[in-house]
Formats: sequence, C-alpha cells, structure tokens
Amino acid sequence: MRRIAVLVSGGGTNLQALIDAQGSVLKSGKITLVVSNNAGAYALERAKNAGIDTAVVLKKELGSQEAFETKLMEILDENKIDIIILAGFMTILTARFTGHYPKRILNVHPSLIPAFCGEGFYGLRVHEEALRYGVKVTGATVHFVNEIPDGGEIIAQKAVYIEDGDTPEILQRRVMEQAEWVLLPQAAETVCATLVTLGGN
Ligand code: GAR
Repeated sequence: MRRIAVLVSGGGTNLQALIDAQGSVLKSGKITLVVSNNAGAYALERAKNAGIDTAVVLKKELGSQEAFETKLMEILDENKIDIIILAGFMTILTARFTGHYPKRILNVHPSLIPAFCGEGFYGLRVHEEALRYGVKVTGATVHFVNEIPDGGEIIAQKAVYIEDGDTPEILQRRVMEQAEWVLLPQAAETVCATLVTLGGN
C-alpha cells in the first residue's frame, strides 16, 4: 500500500473525492497525510473528519520559498510518503522540490492542458479564461509535476462541454463533477498500482 500525501489550499473537494474513493477506486494507496499552506483551509476539516493526520506549513512564517519547500520535504520524508497529490494547492513549487520526487507528484488542473494553464491559471480564473476565449469544450487534466508549471507528463484527461449560459462558477462545478472528481482518484490508483507492481522506490 503506497502512502499518499495530499497538498491543499482551499475547499478540498478533490481531497474529498480521493477520501471517498479509498477502498473502491483507490485500492493501492492510502492517504496518510494532508498538508495545507493555508491554516483556514476547509480541506483540513475534511481530513480531520476522515481521521487523517494534518500539517500546516506557512511560507510567511518561514520567510522564503526555499525554507517553505525544505519544511514541506522534511514533513513528507518523515511521513515516508510515496506519492504527493496536489489537489487545489495554489502555490508554485521550484525545481528543487519537484526534482526530489520525480514522477511522484500529481496535479489536477481544471482545463485540457495545454489550454488555459501555466503560471497565473488557477481556480476560477481558468474557467473565466475558457469562457472569454469561447471554447466549446474544456475539461480537466491530471499530470505529473515537474519544474514547469502545468508542464509535466499528462496522465489522464477528460473533456467537458460548455453550455449556453455558463458562468465561471457553473462551469467550475461541472468540470469538477464530470471530470476532476472522477479522474483524480483513477489517476492516483494507476500511479500507485504501477509503483506497487514495480515494487521499488
Ligand atoms: C480545482 O478545480 C483544481 O483543479 C484547481 O483548483 C480547484 C480546487 O478545488 N486547481 C488549480 O487550478 C491548479 N492550477 P478544491 O479545493 O475543492 O479541490
């Protein structure tokens, strides 16, 4: 059983989807830790309700990106984490961090990469831009995380249609329901199962 850490910043609906998938879709991994860079994140409550250990790491307190990433790595390594899932984790990680966990970090992004992604494209902003551009199809992507924001190898994608009258909020909800909450647990299982089969670290 692979040990999974989920990194969050906000509401944590993707974390909830992962928690709910444990034992059914997600069989080869177990969420053993949730880390937030925001002490007020509702995702922390979801973790506590599910009996999962939590940690809060604040960049402001630590003083620099380097110190923030060092602390994160310490916590992840202490907890013997195999797989890191970024689920609405709204901060960019440098090559120093991503290079420490090659093909071990997954991210869910609410568009079909390479559209509407990269630095500055997060949360509702992604859906605002998709609507502004006028695309008819959007979706979600789960990908490995490397030093390029949203630039790592794609693991899975799912398309979602835009409908007349969509607002960024309506579209965000549809992309979550139809794509993110389905795709992320499946992709987590695929990655955990592959590691289990290989048996190595
Ligand atoms: C999700 O839509 C996720 O894909 C997105 O933020 C939302 C977090 O919601 N992530 C990004 O935009 C990353 N670039 P949640 O906290 O309810 O899971």
